[in-house]
Amino acid sequence: MSEQLTVAMPKGRIFEEAVELLRKAGYQLPAEFDDSRKLIIDVPEEKMRFILAKPMDVPTYVEHGVADIGVAGKDVMIEEERDVYEVLDLKISACYMAVAGLPGYKKKDINPKVASKYPNLATQYFKEQGEQVEIIKLNGSIELAPLIGLADRIVDIVSTGQTLKENGLIELETIVPITSRVIVNPVSYRMKDKTIDQMVERLYNVIEEGSE
Ligand code: PRP
Repeated sequence: MSEQLTVAMPKGRIFEEAVELLRKAGYQLPAEFDDSRKLIIDVPEEKMRFILAKPMDVPTYVEHGVADIGVAGKDVMIEEERDVYEVLDLKISACYMAVAGLPGYKKKDINPKVASKYPNLATQYFKEQGEQVEIIKLNGSIELAPLIGLADRIVDIVSTGQTLKENGLIELETIVPITSRVIVNPVSYRMKDKTIDQMVERLYNVIEEGSE
């Protein structure tokens, strides 16, 4: 007998790929997953409830235990540092975190500013580099910051590189590769270990098949 699982899914870029992976793993997900504004989708046939959250909030739902399991980007995991287990690399939505700026950028000694949606990750990175910078937190369209003089550099996700290119920015340093991960609430993992292990195994098999 498998228990009911609540799964937190990130709305946006990762969502489609994650749904595709679940379907390949044999989960019968209704058409609502493809075109709906619903935030909670129950799939009683699979004994699953899906909650559709902002990507940055997925680890919060899982840490608090209102979701047993979730799908979150490694970027979000580094930024949020939540108390959850990371159990599987789904190898989807591959991209990387980078420092970018205007061409001809020269290191400023006085008051260098870096804009990012990932203030913790950026702070950690520059600390490791031994460089003191002021981090300016933005919520999106980070590429605007150097163009308009808010910051001289940005720390952001690069996927195709199109956004940097179209805005005349160049990559200065690569920080870390990013893919999506399956994360699990520690208490859920104790209480529902068999059901969670089964799900992780099914997903793992699909990923392995795909990489053959
Ligand atoms: C992300 C990221 C970059 C862009 C990179 O932004 O912050 O801006 O994608 O992708 P690319 O290398 O393929 O161009 P997103 O579109 O998620 O929105 P945001 O700018 O509001 O964060």
